[in-house]
Formats: sequence, structure tokens, C-alpha cells
Amino acid sequence: RAIYMGGLAGRRPTVPVGMADLEAAAARCMSAEGYAYIAGGAGREDTMARNLSAFGHWQIKPRMLFDVAEQDTSVELFGRRLPTPFLLCPIGVLEMAHPEADVAVARAAADTGMPYIFSSQASRTMEDCAAAMGDAPRWFQLYWSKSDEMVESFVSRAEACGCEAIVVTLDTTLLGWRTRDLELAHLPFLHGKGIAQYTSDPVFRRQLAEPLPGPDAKQPLNRHTLRVLMQVLRKWPDGMLDGLRSGQALAAVRRFIATYSRPTLTWDDLAFLRERTKLPILLKGILDPEDARKSLDYGVDGLLVSNHGGRQVDGSVATIEQLPGIVTAVDGRMPVIMDSGIRGGADAFKALALGATAVGIGRPYCYGLAIAGEAGVREVLANFHADFQLTMALAGCRSIAEIDRDRITGP
Ligand code: FNR
Repeated sequence: RAIYMGGLAGRRPTVPVGMADLEAAAARCMSAEGYAYIAGGAGREDTMARNLSAFGHWQIKPRMLFDVAEQDTSVELFGRRLPTPFLLCPIGVLEMAHPEADVAVARAAADTGMPYIFSSQASRTMEDCAAAMGDAPRWFQLYWSKSDEMVESFVSRAEACGCEAIVVTLDTTLLGWRTRDLELAHLPFLHGKGIAQYTSDPVFRRQLAEPLPGPDAKQPLNRHTLRVLMQVLRKWPDGMLDGLRSGQALAAVRRFIATYSRPTLTWDDLAFLRERTKLPILLKGILDPEDARKSLDYGVDGLLVSNHGGRQVDGSVATIEQLPGIVTAVDGRMPVIMDSGIRGGADAFKALALGATAVGIGRPYCYGLAIAGEAGVREVLANFHADFQLTMALAGCRSIAEIDRDRITGP
């Protein structure tokens, strides 16, 4: 209604309503590197495409005459009632989209009440984002560092700034084969982007003075990488790394690259986290029912079924295809959230009908951010909500509980 009423007053939407136009408009607002980083996927981008097309396996079966004048789109997650079943996925390096980056997203998310999952690789600190959100819900996404102390520090900072859950992302122990970034020979982290959570961290700052852990200590950066780093350092604006002097800034980038993830992580390591926080722990990147079952054995509180928006293993399954098997494996014992490919109300409806408790929005809100900052994000989120609510009503559902398996048809 807001859009149509605006039209009467001669106003057009701030961001395109359709997803293809939204992406195209965002591309025009970003550098080639920024757009490639956000829009791209791994390999031939088959999985990225499949994340969208696989929703086509299921169709909604609208039911009639149910008095759908009012709809309740709220859901309960970890004891908190949320106004919609949407969350904002953690997205790193948002400064590639807009200078206000994560803080603009935090403000927009807070307006809608949709939980915002702060990324470990954010461009703004979790404290700055939390300060912009009042009491609105936020979670923290953890990349499990090689350093236990860093893991502890991130988790305690997340608790201190009001995060209500810890999301451990498991699918990025190594960076995927991102063809668009490779073509441009551009890795944002080498440019000191997306490392604000680290450079603001007391443990990380202390560790800068220590030798790098493990084999990395013996493997200084090769000449090429060093040359790129030196070029980058010269271009850094003042204050970009929170006032670190340039020698320290170089050390910060090196240390970040050497320690941000722990490829040796196994199920048994989860106990370390369990002992250190009372917050719900979710695993992000689960794609196999067996892993979902195992998560229950290891005391996990929720799952995020995700293939990282098709950015990690090209040729891997679409998340919506894996959702039913995972929901069956979990059997109602913890919430199952899904992301990767949610592009409108119908997608969210289908995911909920297949048993998801909520869904995550990724790239679309970045596009809103690139086009119009906070206002752009707010509009994209409002459009998702409105589209979903309409889909619900037209399908004959008054509450989320009514969106069940009978409302869709498919394999
Ligand atoms: C991501 N994603 C991501 N995930 C995560 O756990 N931590 C992170 O820092 C990031 N960073 C990131 C950057 C960019 C540019 C993208 C596009 C994605 C993955 C993200 O949380 C989510 O899983 C996907 O974006 C969902 O897919 P769609 O909605 O983008 O298709």
C-alpha cells in the first residue's frame, strides 16, 4: 500500500521492487570489485543459480474462503517473539556496498525487528552496530579462529553487546573458488577491508606483537602477496584500521589472514564454545541430514541450512532441496532456519511449508544498501515482508502455523 500511495503522490520506490532490477541498479552504484564480491558465487555459479531455480520444484496451493483480512506473520525463536520469519544473514565487507556499511543495516534491521546477524568479517564493529539498534534483536556469527582466546573474546564481546545467539559458520574453513574475484585479482581482506571486528579486539591487538601461530610462522607471505600489501597500504585512508600505524596495519592483515579460521575444527571442539556461553549456539552451513542429527547429539540449539549463497562449493545442492530431509532428521527438536536463494515472499512461504522456522536474506539487502544506504535496506526488508504477507493471505493462511506441508505440492 505504501508503494501505491507513494505513486499517487508522484513518488517512485527508492529501490527497484523486482530482484533483477534491484541487482542491476546496485551494480551501477558499486565498484566492479565490490559488485563482483557481493554478487559472485563459486566456480561456474551452478549452485548459486540452483539456489533460485530449485524453489520451482514446489508450488503453492492456495486455499479459499478462510477470512484472511488479518495475518499474523510473527514467529517465536529462542524465547523471543519476532514480527516476521525473516533474518538478515551475516555479510562481510559491507563497506564494498556503502560507506555506512553494517551500521546502516543495523538501523534498518532494528526498524523492522528482524534479527541482524553481525558478521565476523564486518566492516564495522559489533559494538557500533549494537549501539545503533536499541533493544532490537541481533545475533553474532563466528568464524572459529585458530586462536582459542580470539574465539572467547568474540563471544564475550557478542554477549556484552546484547547478541542473543551465536551462529558458527562451518562452510568457510577455506575461501571458495570465486571466479569473479579471481578475474579481478581482488580479495577485500588483503586491502584491509572487513576486519573491523579483529582490529577492534583487545586480544587481537595484543597478539599483533606475538609470532604467528603454527606453520604460518614459518611461511612468511610470498613476494607477490607482500607487493600487493605494500601497494594497498599506501592507498589506505587515515584511520581505516582504527588508528593502527601502518606497520601494525600490515601485521593486522597478515595476522587476520593467518588466524581467522580453523580448518582443523571438528565436532568435539563445540564443547569449548558450549562451556563459554549460555547463548543458543547455531551451526550455519549444515546441508546433510546426518550432520543435522549429529548437531543434536552435540548440544547445538539450532541450524542454519545454507550453502553460503553458492559461494563455497560449486556443484553442491541447493538448500531448499536439503531442507525437508534435515527437518525430518531434526524432528522438531530445534529450530531450522534456511538461507541461500530467498528472493521473495513465495520462497519464504515454501521454506516454511517445508518446515523451516525462519529464513535468512543475504544479497538482496546488500543491494538495497548499495543503492540507498539505510533507507535502501529498510525498503528491501519492507518489500520482503509485504510480499510474504500477501502470499500468506492469498494462499489462505492467517498465521505461520497454518503454513504447513499441505499448502504446497512438490517432490
Ligand atoms: C556472505 N555470507 C557470509 N556468511 C557468514 O557466515 N559470514 C560472512 O561473513 C559472510 N559474508 C558474506 C559476504 C557476501 C558478500 C555474501 C553474498 C554472503 C553468506 C550469507 O550469510 C548467506 O549465507 C548467503 O548470502 C545467503 O544467500 P543469498 O540470499 O545471498 O542467496
